[in-house]
Amino acid sequence: MIKDSELLNTIMPAGITSIKACAPKHIMTNADLEKLVDTSDEWIRSRSGIITRHIADPDMALSDMVLPAAQAALEEAKLDAADLDCIIVASVTGDTLMPSTACLLQNLLGATHAAAFDIAAACTGFIYGLTVGASLIGSRLYKNALVVGGDILSRITDYTDRGTCVLLGDGGGACVLQPTEQGSGILASYLRADGSGADLLTIPAGGSRRPASIETIEKHEHFLRMNGAEVFKFAVRSLEESVREVLSRINAVVDDIALVIPHQANMRIIDASAKRLGIPIERWMVNLQEYGNTSAGSIPLALSEAVEQGRVNKGDLIILVGFGGGLTWGAMAMRW
Ligand code: ACO
Repeated sequence: MIKDSELLNTIMPAGITSIKACAPKHIMTNADLEKLVDTSDEWIRSRSGIITRHIADPDMALSDMVLPAAQAALEEAKLDAADLDCIIVASVTGDTLMPSTACLLQNLLGATHAAAFDIAAACTGFIYGLTVGASLIGSRLYKNALVVGGDILSRITDYTDRGTCVLLGDGGGACVLQPTEQGSGILASYLRADGSGADLLTIPAGGSRRPASIETIEKHEHFLRMNGAEVFKFAVRSLEESVREVLSRINAVVDDIALVIPHQANMRIIDASAKRLGIPIERWMVNLQEYGNTSAGSIPLALSEAVEQGRVNKGDLIILVGFGGGLTWGAMAMRW
């Protein structure tokens, strides 16, 4: 029987070498939404904290949006695309159902030696993707991984449903993951799922259960549906659980955390979680006021901006934490 301590010694630690964000240029304001549905700037700000969101032009697909971020991350890491071993794209809005967006990105980048696959874990997707990438490096199978999180939620948003359309936007980010020294990089990951909550956040049609038909289109079943109140309760519960669990795995306490990078869904979820965990709001990265909820894109977008703003420094303990459709949730502890 292999002991835990022996197992740890065989795992190569992995860390983020570079991370870059991407978001479409076009901005949709709360005033723009007032023209589409019965809502108000005051309601959206006070219930969610969101002021604007970035929206992709009609000819932009996910691979187009994330390509510049992937190229910039490779450049900063001084890595040739041909040296990538693996490309992982976390998203629920890939260019097509098949092939995967990771394959399309592999071709656009010229990553001729890379394996490529997508991960569908909704808003927790980037943490799932980083965990898989780090495991492939940890097992010494691969050395250079590109992990992307991004979504073009405007393509699956029902702009007649005021309960969801005011919250969602487009954006993402890409990072290079490589081996690092013991004690730095990814220290621990906590991933969970509960499919019994599948109906709380779902795109009902377009898969094998309800393939596209005139009926599914007429019933708006290709758009995201959400039970907002239930998702809100799940979010606050799972966020606290995930942070506490990942901290316990590295024998750390909340005061050790330099910065939390949460999934950017709603300011009230972040405020409630900050109170429950006793982590001052100044130690949470928040940019949802500009981007809204970009699903798998929100954590890389927030982490990249935090790095750019100098809020993440070498040696800092950083916690990424997400929750979303599936249901899925989880957290990752990182020594920067
Ligand atoms: N403008 C004006 N009124 C609205 C709007 C709107 N955009 N949306 C809902 N309302 C109304 C409702 O119809 C309701 O009216 P009623 O009382 O007459 O029925 C009233 O406002 C209150 O509605 P609630 O749903 O109770 O509002 P709440 O304060 O809970 O806020 C919200 C709703 C913002 C959706 C909140 O529940 C929430 O943030 N939930 C979590 C969403 C989330 O985190 N999703 C993450 C996952 S999304 C993803 O994974 C892609």
